[in-house]
Amino acid sequence: MKQAFVDTNIVVTIRDTEIPVPEAGQVLIRVVVSGTNPKDWKVPQWFEGQNLTNQGDDIAGYVEAVGEGVVGFQKGDKVAAFHQMLTPNGSYAEYAIAREHTTFHLPSSTSFEEAATIPLAAMTAALGLYQKLSLPLPWNPASESLPLVVYGGATAVGAFALKFAKLSEIHPVIVVAGKGSAFVETLIDRSKGDTIIDYREGDEAVRAQIKAAAGGRPIHYAFDAVSEKGSYQNLGAVLSAPAKITTLLPVDKGYEVPAGLNFAHTNVGCVHSATEGKQVGDIEFGAAFFRFIGRGLAQGWFSGHPYEVRPGGLAGLEGGLQDLAAGKASAVKYVVRIGETEGVKEA
Ligand SMILES: NC(=O)c1ccc[n+]([C@@H]2O[C@H](COP(=O)([O-])OP(=O)(O)OC[C@H]3O[C@@H](n4cnc5c(N)ncnc54)[C@H](OP(=O)(O)O)[C@@H]3O)[C@@H](O)[C@H]2O)c1
Repeated sequence: MKQAFVDTNIVVTIRDTEIPVPEAGQVLIRVVVSGTNPKDWKVPQWFEGQNLTNQGDDIAGYVEAVGEGVVGFQKGDKVAAFHQMLTPNGSYAEYAIAREHTTFHLPSSTSFEEAATIPLAAMTAALGLYQKLSLPLPWNPASESLPLVVYGGATAVGAFALKFAKLSEIHPVIVVAGKGSAFVETLIDRSKGDTIIDYREGDEAVRAQIKAAAGGRPIHYAFDAVSEKGSYQNLGAVLSAPAKITTLLPVDKGYEVPAGLNFAHTNVGCVHSATEGKQVGDIEFGAAFFRFIGRGLAQGWFSGHPYEVRPGGLAGLEGGLQDLAAGKASAVKYVVRIGETEGVKEA
């Protein structure tokens, strides 16, 4: 089968490799569409010189085979799945491996393109909101005003955080966004006090406007889907103790955390391995929440991120990942259709 590998310079090589065999608890999926994520170009640079595997983690396709003990899926099922990051047999290939508990059924109404935008980013959003910030879950929503800042509302993760916050009836949500503001507007509820602040006006303006948006009420929660370019410094300056802020990238060691503010790093890898997130419950949370997402798609109260198909299948990854690295993606996830790859035969 064709499989793509990303190197330190964001150059993609397509190789012919063997179709993997699912082990116990694993599902082999014929990938129809793969999503992309910023980590796919970052990881080869973080682990430079190491023999890295294919970086794709967002799978949408059909179950081809299941490993021993898998009870929830069978050949032919239409699914999406989150591949275990940094392990072999990711989604940049004709066939990929996922664990049963991070695989979920897709309704016929959900396209593979839409589905491929969901697993990694939506799970990161859910973990951040519910496991790290301990905010009310959608099936037991907030019953009173609960101001929340979502920094980077047009990022894939931030947009999913906004969708979940709405399901959890968390308001007012103060969203920091720029070019993607028109899209963010579709995710918030102005009648409940939600608002958007433009980061392009500069840090001082962002800080002042977050405070103004809260109307004098203290803000104790923030989801930082940017975690760089001054985002958490801005949050640190406007949140009131005791506050919880979750970031997606590590906070700079030189940053002096204001008293009473608690910064917690969300790592989506924790749904596969307790050591990555240091919370055993994250694995069970992931298993439950992926099914919840599948139900949301089927029932119409959850949806994927806007996407752009990068032409050429696996060959389209290079330009997509380079554009991601250059910061060109605004309110969009780049996806590739594996069947468009030269040399891939129609299934
Ligand atoms: N720790 C984890 O487990 C984990 C998981 C997933 C992602 N991540 C990391 O989280 C970050 C977001 O990932 P993603 O896939 O959601 O990103 P993405 O969708 O590719 O992000 C693109 C968006 O970033 C927004 N943006 C850029 N600078 C901004 C700023 N200063 N303030 C507000 N928004 C800004 C842009 O907003 P506008 O269009 O509005 O200008 C753009 O729409 C990446 O660094 C990624 O590596 C970590």
